[in-house]
Amino acid sequence: MGRVAGKVAFITGAARGQGRAHAVRLAKEGADIIALDICDKIESSVAEPATEADLAETVRLVEEQDRRIIARKADVRDYEALKAVVDEGTAELGRLDIVVANAGMWSYGLIEETTEVAWQEIIDICLTGVWHTVKASIPHIKAAGNGGSIIITSSAAGLKAYANCGAYVAAKHGVVGIMKTMAVELAPFNIRSNSVHPSNVDTALIMNQQTYDLFRPDLEHPTYEDVLEGFKSMVLLPTSFVSTSDIADAVLFLASDEARYVTGLTMTVDAGLVTK
Ligand SMILES: NC(=O)c1ccc[n+]([C@@H]2O[C@H](COP(=O)([O-])OP(=O)(O)OC[C@H]3O[C@@H](n4cnc5c(N)ncnc54)[C@H](O)[C@@H]3O)[C@@H](O)[C@H]2O)c1
Repeated sequence: MGRVAGKVAFITGAARGQGRAHAVRLAKEGADIIALDICDKIESSVAEPATEADLAETVRLVEEQDRRIIARKADVRDYEALKAVVDEGTAELGRLDIVVANAGMWSYGLIEETTEVAWQEIIDICLTGVWHTVKASIPHIKAAGNGGSIIITSSAAGLKAYANCGAYVAAKHGVVGIMKTMAVELAPFNIRSNSVHPSNVDTALIMNQQTYDLFRPDLEHPTYEDVLEGFKSMVLLPTSFVSTSDIADAVLFLASDEARYVTGLTMTVDAGLVTK
């Protein structure tokens, strides 16, 4: 028996990176998956856009685990479109137990230099998008009557500040408020609510030229190798990155019945970054 056998999980931002890792890990442990991703460009994002081919690869990897998956292209900023995906997926797969509000983006700028577009996109995706995700999901989890687990992907930046990404820090702190409020409101329904707080994860979100430029302003064309020492200096344990698999391990634990009395937790998977 898998650790989430017979359950259904809704995951946003599932085309690649951490979202894909969560979909595959939860499927491997017996869950069916509802996957959503924008698969499109976001104006102020520093990362290359995810594609429909990326989402199709997530579908293939989940089906390889002999689990069912409903995967749709939708934007977490568009509540009606997101709700349509959760409604369809829940109707098709029969219930909803687990939500991983993972979709996110990132961009840089000092507070006084952040553009209106950059501020609004981060807040709309990383904060309001999380609220949309849980708002559309909670009625389905309640209706199934089995309790449930909601996991929000925040960041180390949801627990401490960094220079150069104030909108992101604000949004990632904000989702901790949503998470704690849900822990209070949903406990009577045996629905748990927790957040995960990764340090740097080796995904497209930060593996890009703008991030390398930010970390190594002393170099003209810094590369991946040039930022490794800088990333390592941010954490306590001897690593530059945590992996998508490390975050999927935490998500699986929080989703499973092993965490049946864990709610309201801000769970760091950060190689000690927040403590440093
Ligand atoms: N990579 C890191 O270092 C890091 C560290 C801490 C927290 N996080 C958070 O982890 C989460 C996952 O990021 P990742 O590292 O896998 O990066 P990623 O860029 O590989 O994945 C993010 C996914 O979210 C999707 N997405 C973005 N905006 C969307 C929208 N409006 N609607 C639907 N989907 C949308 C993207 O298309 C992409 O597939 C994000 O919330 C991010 O803020 C990342």
